[in-house]
Amino acid sequence: MNKDFYIDPDIRKAHTLPSVAYTEQKYFDTLKHHLFSNSWQWLGGKEYLSSSYTQTPHTFLPGCIDEPLLIVRNQEHLSCLSNVCTHRAKILIESPSSKPFISCSYHGRCFHNDGRFRSMPEFDSAQDFPSPQDDLKKYHLSSWNDFFFVALKPKYDLHNILTPIQNHLGSYTFSSLDLEPNLSKTYHIHANWLTYCDNYLEGFHIPYVHPTLNKAITYEDYEVRVFDHCNVQIGRCKPGQKSIPLQKGDPDFGESIYAYYWFIYPNLMLNFYHWGISINWVIPKNINETEVRFLTFKRQDIPDSDFAETALDLTEMEDEAVVESVQKGLMSLAYSRGRFSPTREQGVHAFHRYLYTEVFSDSKNIAP
Ligand code: FES
Ligand SMILES: [Fe+2]
Repeated sequence: MNKDFYIDPDIRKAHTLPSVAYTEQKYFDTLKHHLFSNSWQWLGGKEYLSSSYTQTPHTFLPGCIDEPLLIVRNQEHLSCLSNVCTHRAKILIESPSSKPFISCSYHGRCFHNDGRFRSMPEFDSAQDFPSPQDDLKKYHLSSWNDFFFVALKPKYDLHNILTPIQNHLGSYTFSSLDLEPNLSKTYHIHANWLTYCDNYLEGFHIPYVHPTLNKAITYEDYEVRVFDHCNVQIGRCKPGQKSIPLQKGDPDFGESIYAYYWFIYPNLMLNFYHWGISINWVIPKNINETEVRFLTFKRQDIPDSDFAETALDLTEMEDEAVVESVQKGLMSLAYSRGRFSPTREQGVHAFHRYLYTEVFSDSKNIAP
């Protein structure tokens, strides 16, 4: 047990993670190597399948892990390969293309689209060549409801992670969602990624920080449900608000749900509304810099005016201001660990407990 990071499973007794987890490089590196490197990360939606290209470069957690990947489309099937040449490590595909083979522009090595070595000039007399090490490494790519995810060495099965969402939204019409590039944007936040996630994980601050959102949802019955690899916050509608369409068999059928805010550990937020889904993909850049990509997937039968009413951008600006303020406070010598509200901060507690059990409980994981 690592006492300095211990998160008591009983929220009434627990203290938050220590502030050093948010402010010191070695803890950022610890999470990078022991959490993110074996996580599933967002790739994209069904727009990947309709792309006119068959070879698309992708970076696994850009600015953090930075692993160069190549997404290969074969008709309706996607696969993920290393985008690094097995000769002397040149990046193979620098921009989307549709060539019959994957060929390296440095010395001409060529691979099949499934990653197998195909040919190489001037290597006829090389011994024990080619060997399996000369093929491109294959990585993991998995889909869920027209959304695609990639992993380098996943610790858990993606579908097990997402089962609670599927169980809540079995009737949700994912197939009617389309990515809206004009309604998607990237935010840059001067704070640690953990600070951003902690703030997302509680609705406790809504009456104080989000006056507009507070007019749409009821605070009294705001609810948190905790699962092994994710948790959800449930905001219910005030009168006059539009609710998520649910059907018999969905656990909350009959209720007016304004939003499900699903947080999939460690860094993906799936927000369900009546008009569609907004995704926040949180990308740690360094201890004090975080990028958040907001992707909007709108139901095609919903008018644009319904989306305009949601004030997502305003809410994000309000959150960013408070998150950046907290990050400054976490640097203070006067602060080390806080406590959780047992009635309002179950989501933050569950996340800290997850980080403790997955990474910090074993002192050997902590970078020197
Ligand atoms: S690095 Fe690719 S052929 Fe040499
Ligand atoms: Fe907020």
